[in-house]
Amino acid sequence: MAIINLINPGNAIEILMNPGNEIGITLKNLSYHPAATPEAILTSVNLELAPQQLGLIIGPSGSGKTTLLEILAGLAEKTAGEIYWREQSLTPEHLQQLGGLVFQFPERHFCCSTILEELRLGHPELGRERVDETLREVGLAHLSLDTPPQALSGGQQRRLALAVQLIRQPQLLLLDEPTAGLDWSMRRQLVNLLAKLKSHWSLLVVTHDPRDLWEIGDRFWTLNRGHLQPTTPEQLHGKSLTSAIS
Ligand SMILES: Nc1ncnc2c1ncn2[C@@H]1O[C@H](COP(=O)(O)OP(=O)(O)O)[C@@H](O)[C@H]1O
Ligand SMILES: [Mg+2]
Repeated sequence: MAIINLINPGNAIEILMNPGNEIGITLKNLSYHPAATPEAILTSVNLELAPQQLGLIIGPSGSGKTTLLEILAGLAEKTAGEIYWREQSLTPEHLQQLGGLVFQFPERHFCCSTILEELRLGHPELGRERVDETLREVGLAHLSLDTPPQALSGGQQRRLALAVQLIRQPQLLLLDEPTAGLDWSMRRQLVNLLAKLKSHWSLLVVTHDPRDLWEIGDRFWTLNRGHLQPTTPEQLHGKSLTSAIS
């Protein structure tokens, strides 16, 4: 069994890697019920996603999609249940290293004056080679590194936001409503890009609008008021989205 040492300054954490074992992330009875809320936001969520798979969670507004991603990114702490990567139980600190969360409308969080600065924010040690490789991966290698993120088109900004996470080489890419606000042609480009990224990473996508994303999904769930249920495109086919997820 190989051991990958993911570097966390001052506190190295070992994540066990077991090649040939096809389990990636596993959630067992994960719940989130902060003391201040009368009802649980997530209730006994079970999910398994293998490496190089894209999992699609479909749920209406307020169903708990963003909260689930925040827990998987180590930004919020579950109140019950377990999260495993392969056989290892993970803490929020592990999850911060394992996962890369691309927020909804991620371009609103750009804060640097060039593409290069945006990619290196918080990681000044990353070399030019890694920068170039990441931009190639998202199809932005033709742009000058001095370009201000604000000067990019909407579709390019979404790609840059993906690159900001990919440059850290997370095992699990978490995407919150990745096609929101994009026009038809940008959506197509983004879906094609996600299909390509799937060959290197596990992707978990949450959305209220699964158009376009069905075709690249491997596993499907619906989320309603914090309850996750497995589903299939066939099961939902023919039903309107509203009736399928409410
Ligand atoms: N930290 C929190 N404390 C209390 N309520 C929260 C917290 N985070 C989210 N919520 C509530 O949990 C529910 C799910 O929110 P969210 O995960 O943002 O849903 P979605 O992304 O599916 O729209 C909402 O009712 C929201 O108001
Ligand atoms: Mg949300």
